[in-house]
Amino acid sequence: SRVRHYKFNVVTRNTTRLCSTKPIVTVNGKFPGPTLYAREGDTVLVKVTNHVSHNISIHWHGIRQLRTGWADGPAYVTQCPILTGQSYVYNFTITGQRGTLLWHAHINWLRSTVHGAIVILPKRGVPYPFPTPHKEVVVILAEWWKSDTEAVINEALNSGLAPNVSDAHTINGHPGLVPNCSSQRGFTLPVQSGKTYLLRLINAALNEELFFKIAGHTLTIVEVDATYVKPVKLDTIVIAPGQTTNALVTAEQNSGKYLVTVSPFMDSPIAVDNLTATATLHYSGTLATAPTTITSPPPQNATAVSNKFNTALKSLNSIKYPANVPTTVDHKLLFTVGLGINPCATCKAGNGSRAVASINNVTFVMPTTALLQAHFFNISGVFTTDFPGNPPNVFNYTGAGPSSLQTTNGTKLYRLSYNSTVELVLQDTGIIAPENHPVHLHGFNFFAVGRGLGNYNPKTDPKSFNLVDPVERNTISVPSGGWAAIRFRADNPGVWFMHCHLEVHTTWGLKMAFLVDNGKGPNESVIPPPSDLPKC
Ligand code: C2O
Repeated sequence: SRVRHYKFNVVTRNTTRLCSTKPIVTVNGKFPGPTLYAREGDTVLVKVTNHVSHNISIHWHGIRQLRTGWADGPAYVTQCPILTGQSYVYNFTITGQRGTLLWHAHINWLRSTVHGAIVILPKRGVPYPFPTPHKEVVVILAEWWKSDTEAVINEALNSGLAPNVSDAHTINGHPGLVPNCSSQRGFTLPVQSGKTYLLRLINAALNEELFFKIAGHTLTIVEVDATYVKPVKLDTIVIAPGQTTNALVTAEQNSGKYLVTVSPFMDSPIAVDNLTATATLHYSGTLATAPTTITSPPPQNATAVSNKFNTALKSLNSIKYPANVPTTVDHKLLFTVGLGINPCATCKAGNGSRAVASINNVTFVMPTTALLQAHFFNISGVFTTDFPGNPPNVFNYTGAGPSSLQTTNGTKLYRLSYNSTVELVLQDTGIIAPENHPVHLHGFNFFAVGRGLGNYNPKTDPKSFNLVDPVERNTISVPSGGWAAIRFRADNPGVWFMHCHLEVHTTWGLKMAFLVDNGKGPNESVIPPPSDLPKC
């Protein structure tokens, strides 16, 4: 293993999409940003320097950060932001992971343009558990707004209403074929007939789960969230913000240009969004300029496609890649995730109320001092540790809502003792708008042991949990009007953020954090921060 050094300069760059130009915040002037390459076992040092007027922080999404919580990156959780003109070196070692992950800004809505791929190769000499592909291609899916995304969310917060949806989806930064805007080129993937390619798909979008399809080709999924899965062949991939999927595609045709589509998935669309991004798979020797074979994306509300995808995934092999699913549970938790409505005197457009989101009815309030600093330096008054392990009021989560949809505000953490085992059931409360919530946990991979529709039944549902080969992830789609159960071992001391990876829901408060620390010696508690850690 070796040490890899990267320099991430956060700079503004004028960028043209959809026939209009705006300045965007980027890393090294690129959209999407540069790919970070490493091998399992390597140590990575990324010096991030802020040259823009916004505060910044970068999160290495899905990197376990074993004992390196100070390098995790969420602003006001593990660090204070890197201010204009300042630098911070993120220093972490990649332990027991290989595959595709992503890095992204973790402050406000800056990740709309500040994101990129993390490619972790296996240790030298260790092969993939699937045939070696001819080529590997990073495919980053995202969104494009004609307006400044900080303005989009600030306007929504002032009005109390939901923010606008994006103006386009993008594939490696490009929307593809856009009517009346012919100057835009789309992403092209050149292929040779008979060869197999590994696509490293990343959903870096702020607010939408996406469908990915290639006309005339099937996809073999071999890895998700940097964990191997039993190969499964499907024609559509469903990928939520924060998730990654590696899929093999064999150029099984002789020639032609095949349309690739990326389109939004939402169970019950609140906002109609028919935007489809396109790219092409281009067989060498094909002269056609337009796609010769097209496909239509699934409808926006194709819940069945999502359910099929999410239930098809199983971890590869519990012998070669030990699954280590905790079989006993120290903390049995049930968290409701959903939307609510709170009063807001200044929200004229929202008629005196504003949309909020919560976990167990707590709308998380971001502190102004980083939680990990507050914990480590014993700064009182920043957070409390009384996050409820169960819903405060039990109701029919997927039926009619309680009479008051109001939530309580708080900066509450849930304390887990070091090395304890956790079973967490995430229950969607489909009471305002039934919507999938892709919930992301920092600092851990977890096992997705169960999933179902309707209300979780603690008596019967655990009987069907998969404790043998459940897929291992860092971001799980909680089905709308349903639940997802995960298990993990709290073997990483620190403060670990958990939130919906739909950025609008995070902004509205669908977030909380776990505090893991025994206060007993250096192995079971948080180690001191690096000297350049940005202070508040
Ligand atoms: Cu990818 Cu807390 O985020």
